[in-house]
Amino acid sequence: MKDIAIYIHIPFCISKCYYCDFLSFPRLDGSVDRYIDYLMREMDLYKESLKEYTVKTIFIGGGTPSYIGEKYIYKLLNHIYKNFNCNGLEEITIESNPGTLSRGKLRIYKEVGVNRISMGVQSLDDRLLREIGRAHSSKDFYNSYELVRDMGFENVNVDLMFGLPNQTWKDCEGTLEKAIQLDVEHISYYGLILEENTLMNKWYHEGKIQIPEEDLERAMYHRGIELLEDNGYSHYEISNFSKEGLECKHNLFYWELRPYIGLGLSSHSNLNHKRFWNYNDFTRYYDSLDKKELPIEGEEKIDKRMEVAEYLIMGLRLIDGINRKEFFNRFCMEIEDVYGEVLKRYEAQGLLDIDTENIKFTPKGLDLSNIVYVELLPE
Ligand SMILES: C[S@@+](CC[C@H](N)C(=O)[O-])C[C@H]1O[C@@H](n2cnc3c(N)ncnc32)[C@H](O)[C@@H]1O
Ligand code: SF4
Repeated sequence: MKDIAIYIHIPFCISKCYYCDFLSFPRLDGSVDRYIDYLMREMDLYKESLKEYTVKTIFIGGGTPSYIGEKYIYKLLNHIYKNFNCNGLEEITIESNPGTLSRGKLRIYKEVGVNRISMGVQSLDDRLLREIGRAHSSKDFYNSYELVRDMGFENVNVDLMFGLPNQTWKDCEGTLEKAIQLDVEHISYYGLILEENTLMNKWYHEGKIQIPEEDLERAMYHRGIELLEDNGYSHYEISNFSKEGLECKHNLFYWELRPYIGLGLSSHSNLNHKRFWNYNDFTRYYDSLDKKELPIEGEEKIDKRMEVAEYLIMGLRLIDGINRKEFFNRFCMEIEDVYGEVLKRYEAQGLLDIDTENIKFTPKGLDLSNIVYVELLPE
């Protein structure tokens, strides 16, 4: 049996945050029932091809999965248990927004096996939350967090953002300190990316808002790392920090380039040396499934050269980098056989730290990682 991870996309939200480019639709409540039904049909179509796999992790993401009724989460997870081998299942995460959780929802999540709650918090400063279009306040977060703990969840992640308009280091520090005080098990600390199709990007280009200069943005990142590490969090991936042994097992499947399938609108999969992705509109998604076909919009075969490049690019996101032995076991060659000259050059420039066991980014390399990635991709 081989291990696999399953991602399920729930594209519904209360409202659209100003910075967000994830596929999500505000207040489409009338579409939820049908969408869940089709997600289960999609699972049915995978039943045969995943016979030799055992599901290790499930991630229900979005959008806002906690926005829809708990009965849907119950149905989806039970359908997975019915269709696939789940004997070795270790982690089931559900993404949630403060203010959308209730005792009733959390009870069902627990009953159906969810053991990790990820909360999108972004900031605990109410002015900032309003300015980025969040539909909740810091108080909503504290109330939801208390419920989550009260219902016995012992593995909680919070997503935080830095580099937001008008954000200062003091704002970031305040939010990080509050999360640390709550003793959350995992923190994702993301730098704002101005995505093209967002209101925030439009306002930025119209000069209506300003975002922190690059130096300040980088300082927010480095000081954040320092604060979290000083308080017992291990920095294990560019944007992710956890208490000992509580790394997100699901995301490790992505970073270690292990097999995963994505179900639902716009989800991506990586299986049998192929990468494929689903339609991102309801009509084509439903039409395919009506014809009993997987709703796949496109696919790419990953040849060995590309797989090596992706393994390096994803693996370098991890702070421990790439283990040479694991690389050799997977590809039957040394990393230097493919990238000897490039690696040496970046080592000389102080971007990579190369020893007999691992190849990883230096702190300077983490800041300039995008430059390195471009050169690792085959022509
Ligand atoms: C799939 S999203 C949304 C999860 C959940 N609906 C929420 O908003 O809390 C996961 C996380 O990505 C981060 N994110 C979304 N858009 C971003 C952007 N433009 N730049 C940086 N981080 C972003 C946010 O921290 C968010 O919580
Ligand atoms: S950040 Fe989360 S809540 Fe906001 S629009 Fe995106 S998916 Fe929805």
